[in-house]
Amino acid sequence: MKKKILIIGSGGREHAISWKLKQSPRVGKLFIAPGNYGTSQIGENESLDITNHKEIINFCKSEKIDLVVVTPDDPLAAGLVNDLKKARIRAFGPTREAAQIEASKVYAKKLMQRAGVPTARFKSFSDFKKALVFLKTQKFPCVLKASGLALGKGVTIAKNILEAQKVLEEVMVKKVFGAAGRSVVIEEYLEGAEISIHAFCDGKSTVLFPSSQDHKQIHEGDNGPNTGGMGTIAPVPWVSAKLLREIKTTIVEPILATLKKEGREFKGILYPGLMITKDGPKVLEFNARFGDPETQSYMRLLKSDLYEIFESCIDGTLEKTKISWRKNSACCIVLASNGYPASSTKGIPITGLDKLNRSQKIVVFHAGTKLVSDKLVTNGGRVLGVAAVGATLNQALRAAYGAIKKIHFAGMQYRRDIGRRKLSFPT
Ligand code: AMP
Ligand code: GLY
Repeated sequence: MKKKILIIGSGGREHAISWKLKQSPRVGKLFIAPGNYGTSQIGENESLDITNHKEIINFCKSEKIDLVVVTPDDPLAAGLVNDLKKARIRAFGPTREAAQIEASKVYAKKLMQRAGVPTARFKSFSDFKKALVFLKTQKFPCVLKASGLALGKGVTIAKNILEAQKVLEEVMVKKVFGAAGRSVVIEEYLEGAEISIHAFCDGKSTVLFPSSQDHKQIHEGDNGPNTGGMGTIAPVPWVSAKLLREIKTTIVEPILATLKKEGREFKGILYPGLMITKDGPKVLEFNARFGDPETQSYMRLLKSDLYEIFESCIDGTLEKTKISWRKNSACCIVLASNGYPASSTKGIPITGLDKLNRSQKIVVFHAGTKLVSDKLVTNGGRVLGVAAVGATLNQALRAAYGAIKKIHFAGMQYRRDIGRRKLSFPT
C-alpha cells in the first residue's frame, strides 16, 4: 500500500519536500496544510488550523494518514509531534522538548556549554537592569538575541552601546517580540564565514547533508535587513570533507549525545548555523528543522528516497540507510515581493513560468503564491525560489539566473550575487 502523507507548512521548503517525496515509489497521496499554489500541483492543500492539534489529529484519523512531516518551527515548539505521537500517528520531527534547542536560545547556549560545543562567549538575562550593567562592560560590536522564536528578527548586531541599550529596551521593556524577549542572550561577535549544516538524526546516530550557505540580507553584498533567506548554494565549494567531519564530531554528535542523556532524544533535522572562524567552527544557533531556502537546494541534490530516510529517522535505523547525493552543485535564488522583508505586496500577477524550458536543470519552488481567478498571483514576502543544478556551481547559477530573466511580477526583488561571495574562511 502506498503511504498517505500530511506535510505541515506553506513555504518553498514544503514545496521542495513535497516534490521530493512524490518521487518515492512508496508515497501515494500527499496533503499539505496549508500549502501554496506549488504544493497544490503535487498534492491536495488542506486549510487546517495548524495551531489546533485536535483538528490535525482528526484529519489524520479520517484520512488514514501514515506519516505527518512537521517542518516549521512554531508547530514543533508547540509540541505537535508530541500530540500526534500520543494519538498514535507517526510524525517526522523533534518533540517539543528536543525542539527547545531552537525555541529557546538561552536553553541552547547552556546546552552547548554542558556539551562542550564551541560557540560565542555569552551571558543570559531575564532582568533588564542586570543585562544593562553587563552590556556596559562589553566590547562592540556585540550581539543581542531575544531568546524565543521571533520570526528571524530577534538578533541584533549592535555597533555601539547606544544602539545596544535601545535594542535591549525594545526587547525586554517594550516587548516588541512579546514573550520571545522575556530573556535575552548577550554574546561575543564572531568574525568569519557563515554556513548552514543539516543533519538527519534518529536519536542514536546522525548523517550530515552536504554543506550549504544562505544569504540572509535583502541586498547584494550582504547589506540591508535580514530576511528569511534570499538564496542558497550547496555544497559550499570551500567546505572540505575534513571540516565537515570536524563539525560532525565536535558539534553535532556531542549535542545529540547530551540531548539524549538529558532525556530529550532528537529525531528529525538538526540544522546548526555556524560561523567558521580562525579558531574553527562555532555555533551561532541551532534550528530543529529544515532550512528555507536551504531545502530547495538540498532536494535538488538528494538522490535517495526521502520517505525511506524519514522512516529510518523515526525507527532509529538511520545507520542502515544509505543516503546518497548527486555530485552536482545546486542553488536556489529567491524572488521576493516589493517591500519585503518589512512588508509584502499580495495579489500581484506572476508571469513567465510557462516560458521556462522543462529541462531537468530548473525547478521553481513556490512560497507566497496563490491562484486567483485562474491567475497566479503573489501571496507573501518570499514568492518563488528558482532552484537549479549544474555540474559546477557556476553552471547552476547561470541556469537559475537565465530562468529568472523570463519570470516577472511588479516589484520583484532578488539578489544577483548569490554564490558570489569571495570570502572563504579567515586564516
Ligand atoms: P541567529 O538567528 O542566532 O542565527 O542569528 C541571525 C544572524 O545573526 C546569523 O545568521 C548571523 O549572521 C548573525 N549572528 C548571530 N550571532 C552572531 C555572532 N555571535 N557573531 C556574529 N554574527 C552573528
Ligand atoms: N535559512 C534560514 C532558516 O531557515 O532559518
